[in-house]
Amino acid sequence: MDKNSTFELNNGTRIPVIGFGTNVLQGESGIKDIQRALEAEYRLIDTAQSYENEEEVGLAVENSPVPRQDIFITTKITDENQGRELTFESTHASLEKLRTDYVDLLLVHWPNLDDFDISLETWQALISLQEQGIARAIGVSNYTPDLIQLTIDESSVIPAVNQVEFHPFLFQKDLMDYCQSQNILVESYCPIARAEHTQAPILQHLSEKYDKSPVQVILRWHLEHGLVPIPRSTNPDHIEANLDIFDFSITEEEVAKMDELDMNYRIVNPEKGPPSWRKA
Ligand SMILES: NC(=O)c1ccc[n+]([C@@H]2O[C@H](COP(=O)([O-])OP(=O)(O)OC[C@H]3O[C@@H](n4cnc5c(N)ncnc54)[C@H](OP(=O)(O)O)[C@@H]3O)[C@@H](O)[C@H]2O)c1
Repeated sequence: MDKNSTFELNNGTRIPVIGFGTNVLQGESGIKDIQRALEAEYRLIDTAQSYENEEEVGLAVENSPVPRQDIFITTKITDENQGRELTFESTHASLEKLRTDYVDLLLVHWPNLDDFDISLETWQALISLQEQGIARAIGVSNYTPDLIQLTIDESSVIPAVNQVEFHPFLFQKDLMDYCQSQNILVESYCPIARAEHTQAPILQHLSEKYDKSPVQVILRWHLEHGLVPIPRSTNPDHIEANLDIFDFSITEEEVAKMDELDMNYRIVNPEKGPPSWRKA
């Protein structure tokens, strides 16, 4: 595996094994960060309608020497745009901002727990957008196995991806096992838990053993589990370092030791986290 490697999604589309997160990267500096990521050879750029930076992504991609077809762009339908018509309209608005006529991956950003029917409707709209070639692959984000199963039962279409918060301190084994058993790729957001907790003894030990930083060890852990991490950085050295994880691997035993770092530590919307997610 190297930085140009890809995984095959359940509809045959290929996704890079690591991506670049862009939440909060905005304006001129945001464009520069995304350009820097493309120069470093990230080929997956993760944005969302709610990040209000699809224009920045579009400009960075347009100004890059890398051909559009070699870049995998993900965007997400934000809560206010759920429902059939708004999903269509907002996706077209996203395409305009992204300066492209298709996205590689289109996700439902959050399940609507007060009215899950609207999320099912949004999913049906995504299915149509995929049929029209506007999205090469479609998926969900922040979905529990129950919600995914409901989505599959109602539509007979299995999401290609579930993008969730995932890192050694929130090792969601049941969710991972369920997704992998359904051939749903798990994309890890906050993959390095914002570089907190890097002092953990096992991370320090592996860092020394492999001459890699604790963050690089964590990113490698995602790859060993078959997960696609999408770290974000504005620091040129970190942008480079986060891709420099293909010249070592950690053993199964070491992966299992890192799994034990789990402490159900949730950074994003902890108040929304399961079990309340299961109420829908
Ligand atoms: N679907 C969803 O609901 C959802 C929710 C949250 C996030 N996401 C996506 O996931 C992406 C990543 O998550 P995130 O941005 O929240 O968190 P993250 O990638 O876990 O952490 C980013 C932070 O870590 C620091 N960092 C990065 N590389 C480092 C390194 N090598 N050494 C030390 N520090 C480093 C960055 O600071 P520097 O800039 O100084 O490097 C930044 O403060 C987002 O950008 C977004 O695209 C999706």
